[in-house]
Formats: sequence, structure tokens, C-alpha cells
Amino acid sequence: MDNTHTINEIRSKVDIVDIISSYLPLTQKGKNFFGVCPFHDDTNPSMSVSREKQIYRCFSCGASGNVFQFIMDYEHVSFKEALLILSQKTGIEIKGLQIQKKNTKYDRFYQIYELAHKYYQNNMNSSYAKKAKEYLTNRHIDEAMIKEYKIGLSLDKPDALTKLLVGQGYDYNTLNNIGLSTSDKDVYINRIMFPLYDLNGRIVGFSGRRYDGIKENKYVNTKGTEIFQKGETLYNYHIAREYIRSKNQVIVMEGFMAVIRSMTIGIKNVVALMGTAMTKEQANLIKRLSNHVILCFDGDEPGRKACLDNGSELEKLGCQISVVELDNGLDPDDYILKYGKDSFQNLVNHAITLSDYRIKRLKKNINLNSDLEKTEYIHSVLVETSKIEDEIHREFILKKLANEFEIGYNTLEKRLLSLIHENENERKKVIEKPLLVSKNEDPKKDKYNLATYALLYYMMVDQKCLQYYDEGKIYFPNEEERFLASEISYYYQKYGMITPADFYTYLQDKENLLTVLNRVLELELDPNLSEKALLDYVHTLKEYQVKKEIKKLENEMKHENDVMHQAQIGLKIAQLKQEIGK
Ligand code: UTP
Ligand code: MN
Repeated sequence: MDNTHTINEIRSKVDIVDIISSYLPLTQKGKNFFGVCPFHDDTNPSMSVSREKQIYRCFSCGASGNVFQFIMDYEHVSFKEALLILSQKTGIEIKGLQIQKKNTKYDRFYQIYELAHKYYQNNMNSSYAKKAKEYLTNRHIDEAMIKEYKIGLSLDKPDALTKLLVGQGYDYNTLNNIGLSTSDKDVYINRIMFPLYDLNGRIVGFSGRRYDGIKENKYVNTKGTEIFQKGETLYNYHIAREYIRSKNQVIVMEGFMAVIRSMTIGIKNVVALMGTAMTKEQANLIKRLSNHVILCFDGDEPGRKACLDNGSELEKLGCQISVVELDNGLDPDDYILKYGKDSFQNLVNHAITLSDYRIKRLKKNINLNSDLEKTEYIHSVLVETSKIEDEIHREFILKKLANEFEIGYNTLEKRLLSLIHENENERKKVIEKPLLVSKNEDPKKDKYNLATYALLYYMMVDQKCLQYYDEGKIYFPNEEERFLASEISYYYQKYGMITPADFYTYLQDKENLLTVLNRVLELELDPNLSEKALLDYVHTLKEYQVKKEIKKLENEMKHENDVMHQAQIGLKIAQLKQEIGK
């Protein structure tokens, strides 16, 4: 069944600017809106979104498309799922649209993890769980939390789970491969089991914590598999996502216990790295969730180092970073249990900027008896201060420095201003990259290309032009452009109208045609086409084609020995030249 009308109706009911704004901040500049492209590493606003055309385009990486494409790429979903997301937003029902989950070879993996998870949960309700429950109670994890966070228990038996799963028809090989068994025995023995999820909320592994008081191997995580890489996910991502979007702020922690605790006190815009190391993938995930990042790592040296390192990485991606500092030796879980919810919320509300945090940290390491170290320290503080936008904030820091080290305020200010100047020059270098031409663009965009793209564009927005084409008056020299033109004409005949943004949907599987369409839509053409302009474009293409023909004939003539034939060719050439007025 052809859903095109409904699909186009859904697309036309939403504004791409609103939809993209719900994922990332956009600022209007002239007719278009700009934001930092989520599809490549960047800090510059190289993605433009056109309200008029209802399409987006990144001038840096070339990502482009309509609202469906954006959702597909951003949410990693299929076209149908993107459609469903939008149909929910608009309330338009799509008859006959059924999302059929693709059967992948991973379905078996998901099934097995689900089964294992049910098994672990059952154990938690059995008499075997006495000690584990005691441990959890001591940690202030009650029954409700056990349920809510799906905490389970693996038994103190060598192969209980493996046997059970093999009994259900799964083979040892698979169980070993997906990290639940090793040498045909259980990987998890006598541990409290926390499910780990992929970005869509499916269980793809476990983290098992020992509860016998021994510190070694505190947690055992499921090994990396084809569907789970610890460095490519964030704990709680699928749940926190909506809270993060609505607050436009993400809190990043180290451990998932801290996240669970934070969730229970109602602070839900929170994810965990599961360690202090942050991979590039995780950084990108965080940035996509929100540009406003609060780092809340453990109050120990690795935690503090992680703030500086991960903070810098995220800053490079264009995020605004604040830092929550916890008392020595406490992680967020400990802190909340010790001081309570309000106190923790207060810390989050008063998180300091990464710059302030750096300044604070710099001071801890200097030897106040060494002028050299003091000078270096002051310089580093000024470098940090030069990144702060608020003038008053900068002045506070300068005054403090001046008092503390008995240095003239003006000396400090002079240095600061020159650093700010340097930063600005750096920034300009980046911004001055031309925004309107994509990197991969062919530099000799001559008048034939222009005529080609213009005519393809006007075929979509101007009846006259389409008619010209249908009457055979326009001939496109290159194959891909010919294909695109015939698709435009076909689409129009079938649906009676065409808008570029809907045409994107129609072409979504034809990558080469989409490339041409992008070229076409990239040109900022006046939608009103005069008769004269139309004729000019048509003539230009004609000229191109004829010139090509002439070249061919001239070549033929060169290799022709028969004088009669030569004369015939010569005549043809003359005729062609006359046709284009040369
Ligand atoms: P932490 O040692 O800070 O764990 O490690 P935690 O959250 O405070 O745990 P509790 O309170 O002692 O139970 C932070 C994260 O690092 C990973 C885990 O994902 C943990 O959530 N980790 C830690 C491991 O994978 N293995 C380990 O042995 C330790
Ligand atoms: Mn802890």
C-alpha cells in the first residue's frame, strides 16, 4: 500500500526547525537556523536548517535530508520508526504501518540475556538471597529499588545458569560467546547482578558485584560482544534521555550505583560512564544528549583527574561544563546517604564552571616559595580566565589574584586582554571557513552545472519548467541528472505535487540521486522563475550538448580519410554551430 500521501502529510505538519531544536540548540541567522552538527565531531555551527525548504544540511560533513532523515540518523532508527515518532508527535495515524522488528542474528542473544535476567531476579526472591538482601539493606537498597532497577542474584553454584540455558536449547558455544559462560561454566557466581542496557534499553549484559566484603574484582562486567561495548554506552541512557532533554542538562557520574541512588532521590537526568575513562563514543553520546554537562565524579584523585580530562574533551566538542566536587572519599551514592537529597541537589545547583575548577586545582599543586612556580600558576589562571565570557566574573578573579600575590591589577589585566585577543584570533580562523560551500564541492561549478541544477530545482517548484521537460525540451547531459529529472516528473504525475522535503523521503534509498538533489537544493535560487531565465537555462544546456556533439564530430573528421565523408561531417558541424548561434 502506498502511504506517500500520509507520510507527506505528517512531514508537512511538523516544522523541521522545531523538531531539530528539540534535539539541539539552533540559532537563527537570516532566513536559516544554525546549530552544531551532531553527525560529526565539531564545535562550529556548521549545520543549517531551512524552514522554507524543510531540510537540513551540514556544510562540513555533508549530512543532509528532511526531518525523517534527521530522526533516523540521530536516533539510529529505521524510516518506519522515525515515521512512528513523528506520527506520535502529530497525532496522524498511519494505516497499515506496522513496525516489524527485523529478525537479526542478535535476537537470540537478547532472548538469552532476558532469560538470564529473569533467572537472576528469581534467585533474588528465593531463600538463597538472604545474605545478598542483608548486604543490599546495609547499603540502603530496599525492595522497591531491587524491583525498579531489576537487581538480581547469581548463585553460588558452578554452572546453574549454563545448565538452565542449555536445557532450553541454547548451545554452549553461544553462551561462551556472549559472556555468560566460560569453559561451559557460569561466569557469574554468587554476585549481585545489575543488568546493563544498550541505547534502546535492551539488556545486553550484566555487571555482577561481589558482596562478601572482598575488594578484588569488585565488579565483573559482561565482556564486549557484537551488541555490547562498555565504551559505547552510558548507563541509564535510555531512561535518562527524556529527563536530560527536558532539563537540557546532563549529569555524568562514574558508577551505576551512584546513578541508581540519584534516580531514587528524583534527580533523573543522570548517566554513568562505568569507570572514570570516557571514550570518544561516550563523549559524543553525552554531547548529543545535551550541551550542558555537569560532571559529578567521585571525591578522590582519579575522580578529580577525570573531571579535568573528560571535561576538556567535552569542552572540545562544544559542551559547557560544570563540576560538582564531593568531599574526599565520597562518591555521589555515599554523599546522598550521608548528607541527604537536598544537600546533594544544592551541590548540583551550585556546580562550578570547569574554568573555575581548573583554577582551583592549579593552586593545589604550586610551591608558594618559588617565584617561577607562582608565575606559571598566575599565567595558567589567566589562560583559564581568558576563556570566561562574563566580564564581572573575570574581574573577580583578577582582583583575587592581584591581592593574593601582590601584583598590580593592571599588569594582570594587560596579560589577560592579550590572551583574550589571541583566543579571538584563533576563533576567527575557524569561523572564517566558508559556510556555504561544502568541502567536497567541485570548484569549477560552471554555468552548465548551474543550469542543470537550476532546471532540476525549477522542475520541482515551477509548473512551466516541468512542462518544458515533459515536452522533451530539456535534455540533461549527465546520466544521474537525467534519472533525477525523470523521477521528479514521475513523482509529480503520481502525486500531483512535489515539495523538495517530501521528495527526499521518496529518494531515500537512492543515494546517488540524493547527492544530486543536495546539490540542487544547496543553491539559493529565487523560487520565481521568469520565462527568460528558463529559456536561458535551457539554451545553456542545449549549447553544452551541441558543443559536445561538435567535438565528437571534429574528432571523427580528423580520422576520416574519405573526402566526401569529411565534407558531410563538416556540413553537420556548421549546422550545429548555427543552431547555437556560433
Ligand atoms: P566504583 O569503584 O566507583 O564503584 O567504580 P561504585 O559505584 O562506588 O560501587 P560500590 O559503591 O563500591 O558498589 C565505578 C564504576 O566502575 C566500574 C563499574 O561500572 C562501577 O560502576 N567498575 C568498578 C568495574 O567495572 N569494575 C570494578 O572492579 C570496579
Ligand atoms: Mn560507591
